[in-house]
Amino acid sequence: MDFFEVIAERHSVRKFTGEPVEQELIDRMVSAAETAPSSKNCRSSAFMIVRDRDTIAAISEMRDRGSAFVKDAPVVILVLGDETRTDLWVDNCAISATILQLAATALGLGSCWVHVHGRPRVSDDPSAGNAEDYLRSLLGVRDGMRILCAVAVGYPAD
Ligand SMILES: Cc1cc2nc3c(=O)[nH]c(=O)nc-3n(C[C@H](O)[C@H](O)[C@H](O)COP(=O)(O)O)c2cc1C
Repeated sequence: MDFFEVIAERHSVRKFTGEPVEQELIDRMVSAAETAPSSKNCRSSAFMIVRDRDTIAAISEMRDRGSAFVKDAPVVILVLGDETRTDLWVDNCAISATILQLAATALGLGSCWVHVHGRPRVSDDPSAGNAEDYLRSLLGVRDGMRILCAVAVGYPAD
């Protein structure tokens, strides 16, 4: 697939076959995302790859809306940003996540961005906390590293 075919082909995939995704493909996606431009070349983005079924099920419960489908994804890639390196970690993460998704398409995989940063766990109930704090605790994310989004990855079922 050439570049413009990849752009045209990419769409959000929320239903996956049960087929496992080869680690080599995940590595190629992450390597591509690591080439992303970043403010002052600070390279503040980082990636956490999750394959453990119980952990993925817990990730899918981060929000009451928009994340439940993640439960059936064979792989989830968390896109993190180091806020100690730059105040533009969100911008850098967004570029990284976009490249991850385009790489998934180029490799014949489906993916979907699930937003984390700034999203409440329960809509209209701020007292229930937010998705980012929930995931930070679940995944043991160190201080200074923030989470912009999760990218669910798998072979498309439709
Ligand atoms: C910043 C951002 C946040 C998103 N958050 C979610 C989300 O939480 N859950 C979800 O199912 N899709 C989410 N998406 C996917 C969008 O719904 C999807 O990209 C949009 O509907 C366009 O469809 P397409 O990706 O198939 O072109 C998000 C996409 C972006 C760029």
